[in-house]
Amino acid sequence: MEKVQIAGSIMDFYAQLCKNVGLRKKDLIFPIFVSELSSSGPLSNSNDMSGMNKIALKDVVQNVQKIIDQGISSLIIFGIPNKRDIGASSALSNEGIVQNSTRKIKKEFGGSVNIITDVCICQYDLSGHCGLQIKNHDATEGNIDNDSTLDLLSKIAISHAEAGADIVAPSSMMDGQVIQIRSALNSKGFKNTKIMAFSAKFASSLYSPFRKTAYSKQIHNYKTLDKSSYQIGYENPRQAIREVQADIQEGADMIMIKPSLLYLDIVSMIKDKINFPMAVQNVSGECAMVKAAARKGWIDEEEWKVSSIAAIKRAGAHSIISYFTMDIAKYLDD
Ligand code: PBG
Ligand code: ZN
Repeated sequence: MEKVQIAGSIMDFYAQLCKNVGLRKKDLIFPIFVSELSSSGPLSNSNDMSGMNKIALKDVVQNVQKIIDQGISSLIIFGIPNKRDIGASSALSNEGIVQNSTRKIKKEFGGSVNIITDVCICQYDLSGHCGLQIKNHDATEGNIDNDSTLDLLSKIAISHAEAGADIVAPSSMMDGQVIQIRSALNSKGFKNTKIMAFSAKFASSLYSPFRKTAYSKQIHNYKTLDKSSYQIGYENPRQAIREVQADIQEGADMIMIKPSLLYLDIVSMIKDKINFPMAVQNVSGECAMVKAAARKGWIDEEEWKVSSIAAIKRAGAHSIISYFTMDIAKYLDD
C-alpha cells in the first residue's frame, strides 16, 4: 500500500532522500557575494534570488559565522566592486573586495573554513566579458584576447592566494587558464593553493539573475551578452570532455560543470569516463525558476530544492555549489 505523506514527517522524508543519494554537508559549497557597498542588503530588488545577500565587508565575519554554525565549511566568494574600468584593475588589487573579505575570514576562522575564490574579470571590466577585449581601429568592440587575459587572471589568482584563499576558481573559460595560473602560483610559493577549474561552463541565459546582480548597473545588455566564443555550446558533449581532460592535464585539482540540471547527462558521463573530483554549480537561473514558480503556487519550493540537489548528487557530483545550500544543510546530520 502506498504510504501517505503526513506533515510531521516531511522533514524526515527529505532527510532520507538526501541520505539515499549519499549527500553530506561536506559536499555542499555556499556562494557568497561580497560587496564594496557600505551596508549589506538583498542581492537584487526583485525576488528571483530571495534569501541571498550582498554582504558588506564589515558584516562578512558575522555572515560566515552563521554558515559555519550550520555545519557548512566551504564557501565560494564572488566580488561585487563599486566601479568597473577598462582592464578590470580592481580585480587584482590587494585591497579589492574579494581579497579583503578573504583576509578577514581567514583571520577569524583559519582552517575551519575552506575558501574558494572566483577568479574572473567580468564583474570588474567595463565590457562585462570574462576576457579582455582588443578594440578594433574604429574603436568598436573587438575579439577577446586570450593571452593578455591569462596574465591578468594569474595576477588575480596570486592576489587571492596572498589573501589566504585555499582554492582559486578561474571561471573565465580562457584556453590555458589552469596551466598558467598553476605556474604563476608555484612561482610565488603557493604550491598548496588548489585550483578548481570551471572546465565545462555552458553559455546560458540561466546566468541572468547573477548578471542582474553583478552587472546590470553598467552592462545594460547583461541578459543577452554573448559569451559563446569562450563558453561551451550545449549541443557539444565532446567539447565538454575535451575541456575537462585539458584542465586535468594542466594541473586542476578539481573540475567543474555548470549549469547543473540541463547538463546532468554530461555530469554522469564525466563521472563514468573520467573519475576526478567534480563540482557542479546549480546556477542563479535554476534557483530563480524554482523561487518564481513556488511564489506563484505552482510547485512546492522545498520539494524542488531538495530534489534538484539530490539529482545533481545522484548524477555523480562530488561537490555542489548552490544558492540552496543552507536550505539543504538542515536535512543533513553530517
Ligand atoms: C562569470 C560568472 C557567471 C556566473 C558565475 N561566474 C556569469 C557568466 O558567465 O556570465 C554565473 C553564476 C550563476 O548564475 O549563479 N565569470
Ligand atoms: Zn566572468
